[in-house]
Amino acid sequence: MSIIEVKQLTKIFGSEGRRALPLLEQGWSKEKIAKEVKLTVGVNKAEFSIEEGEIFVIMGLSGSGKSTLVRLLNRLIEPTDGQVLFKGKDVVKMNPEQLRQFRRKNIGMVFQKFALFPHRSVLANAEYGLEVQGIEKKKRKELAMKALELVGLGGWENHRPDQLSGGMQQRVGLARGLANDPDILLMDEAFSALDPLIRKDMQQELLELQARMKKTIVFITHDLDEALRIGDRIALMKDGVIVQIGTPEEILIQPANKYVERFVEDVDLSKVLTAAHVMIPPEMIRPERGPRVALQLMRDNGVSSLYVVDKEMKLQGLITADDAALALKQNQTIHDVLRSDIPQVHPDALLNDLFEMMSEIHLPVAVVDESNRLKGIVIKGAVLSALAGNAVLEGGMLR
Ligand SMILES: Nc1ncnc2c1ncn2[C@@H]1O[C@H](COP(=O)(O)OP(=O)(O)OP(=O)(O)O)[C@@H](O)[C@H]1O
Ligand SMILES: [Mg+2]
Repeated sequence: MSIIEVKQLTKIFGSEGRRALPLLEQGWSKEKIAKEVKLTVGVNKAEFSIEEGEIFVIMGLSGSGKSTLVRLLNRLIEPTDGQVLFKGKDVVKMNPEQLRQFRRKNIGMVFQKFALFPHRSVLANAEYGLEVQGIEKKKRKELAMKALELVGLGGWENHRPDQLSGGMQQRVGLARGLANDPDILLMDEAFSALDPLIRKDMQQELLELQARMKKTIVFITHDLDEALRIGDRIALMKDGVIVQIGTPEEILIQPANKYVERFVEDVDLSKVLTAAHVMIPPEMIRPERGPRVALQLMRDNGVSSLYVVDKEMKLQGLITADDAALALKQNQTIHDVLRSDIPQVHPDALLNDLFEMMSEIHLPVAVVDESNRLKGIVIKGAVLSALAGNAVLEGGMLR
């Protein structure tokens, strides 16, 4: 089940924002609404769901509505219309007490500006959220210490923030967000103020933390690289509207419109696309069918070699036409002549690495999974064409 389900979620800033709802319904743009009725559309009928344990990234240019959208999720901003279902329960309809419980138990937030209190210790900063929620001293110390430990700040609890580097300060912010052990963590440009290298470290740590703790994370960024690195799915916003939601690959390969295209045009595809994206179905044969059938199949399909697989599709090797002819003449089996030292990669191998590998060899590369099952083959032309951005997706494979 989705942990969050958002339906028709809308925020219009300004007095009596609801006035603009029928206008949105009629298809008025954000610009027109601003001009004619002096209201600002923050979020326009957002509709999506987030799965448990997912890192859901929200991207878009400045002013596109990212911060507004996440703040609607925990009602730091009150929605003008629509629903936010948390495990099926509408957050928008919660009374103040229910909302307090929701924020206390289920949802945490990390901001871009670390928002640390300079005169408080690291520990007291990490405790802040718990303190606001009225959790008693001993308990909140225990929880905050645990959270600090988790983000690698064990031993730093008595320092002051200004004694810490930027990266460490952001860890304090992260610890604060994690202290109440929420199901969902909202992160608004949490890493944007960090130096590039520290930022990469933090991204890596977030991924590890997420893998260990199975949190659901809603992560805002306007850095595409960051989105691609950490996002399971990415939502792209423009003028308050979500214009596309998809996996990083889907966004890159099939941008929904020019806006998304412009976002992704500078991406180095070789560092994003994998063998699985460009592989094609191989011509295969089972060894027991013999060299005569192998030759016939090669002729029928216009290929000069076949991949030899067993009943479970596990890769045994490759047989060429020459090998098959020789086997036939000398009364040998496919097993006797097959070549087993053929180039292989995992489906997740990046085109970048594949490309290097293929410059040195002249055979296609076999794509095999952990159990040695043949998933497809990659030929040089497909890699080149994908890197040139000519990829056309068809049932998960490029053709
Ligand atoms: N409190 C507010 N009152 C009026 N308008 C607001 C308010 N907060 C945001 N807006 C407007 O709503 C729109 C979306 O703003 P929002 O802050 O959500 O964008 P953003 O995508 O987070 O941008 P950034 O990348 O700069 O943080 C903008 O047009 C903004 O001017
Ligand atoms: Mg913002």
